[in-house]
Amino acid sequence: MHRRDFLLRGAAAGAGFLASTELQGEPGGSPRNPGEIVIISTWPFGKAANEAALQTLEDGGSALDAVEKGVMTAEADPSIQSVGFGGLPNRSGVVELDAAIQDGRSFESGAVCSLQGYRHPIQVARAVLDHSPHLVLVGAGAREFATDQGFPTEETLSDKAREAYQNWRKKHPDGKGPAAGHDTLGLVLLNSDGHICVACTTSGLAWKHPGRVGDSPLLGHGLYADDEAGGCVATGDGEEITRVCGSFLVVEWMRKGATPEEAIEETLNRIARRSPRGRDVHASFVAIRADGMTGAGSMRKGFHQALTRNGSTEVLSVPAYVDRNPHEDQR
Ligand code: GLY
Repeated sequence: MHRRDFLLRGAAAGAGFLASTELQGEPGGSPRNPGEIVIISTWPFGKAANEAALQTLEDGGSALDAVEKGVMTAEADPSIQSVGFGGLPNRSGVVELDAAIQDGRSFESGAVCSLQGYRHPIQVARAVLDHSPHLVLVGAGAREFATDQGFPTEETLSDKAREAYQNWRKKHPDGKGPAAGHDTLGLVLLNSDGHICVACTTSGLAWKHPGRVGDSPLLGHGLYADDEAGGCVATGDGEEITRVCGSFLVVEWMRKGATPEEAIEETLNRIARRSPRGRDVHASFVAIRADGMTGAGSMRKGFHQALTRNGSTEVLSVPAYVDRNPHEDQR
């Protein structure tokens, strides 16, 4: 069946379409075995995150605990220059971190944006979910909340990031060079009960304007989960992913019956058509459908997914998106 027909048929048939045998064996992996835990995340450093998430479940932690502990691995690693301690600073030399976490069953979520002075923004985001009536806290307010919750402040600018900043300032003495880089760690987890949780953590664009926030801490943009449909996380140019509500769109396509790869392809297609930059955008997604099928897609080559199936984790290269329907986007 042509991909477009497939998607339209899925949309027409609604939830019942998920039960169609025609979905079995579509590209993008296979549905999970009964009770199998499935975890997918962005970039090769997602491997350690998946393994920590799996270990957390095996130790009796919840799905939310698992995604939180998973992404904390990268936040703690100073060699990763796009997340947590090690993340490159804004144009004033200050590290501002964004993170979010969401439960796909209760739809509870928590996020912090432009958080300074804490290496683990995902822990603060989790505390927002658990202990605040609000969903998103930013800047000084997020910091005040973190302090009130008892998190200790720490140095967040690693030696390597400080050196990179000093080099950048030599090239841009006025501190106004272009922002760069965007390798967010996003993780989607489907536990043995069919429950989906998602988390994202990033230092955002290097050399960004102070206070700039991308897609990663924003529900529906950098991450989204619904136990009845699936979960998705994004990495790439936050402004472009946010333009189309990227992660929400992927989940909604999966709800209509698309495989994760098809859902991501449709979303990349939407980004390419709605962005003034067309296909010259960095955008990549990983997703798990409610039945355990996984998928990944990227506008450009160079992206990798970390995938955990049947207790073992591997890092897989993701080919660049190919626009197979250059004149079709009437939806
Ligand atoms: N995707 C991360 C950001 O744009 O901040």
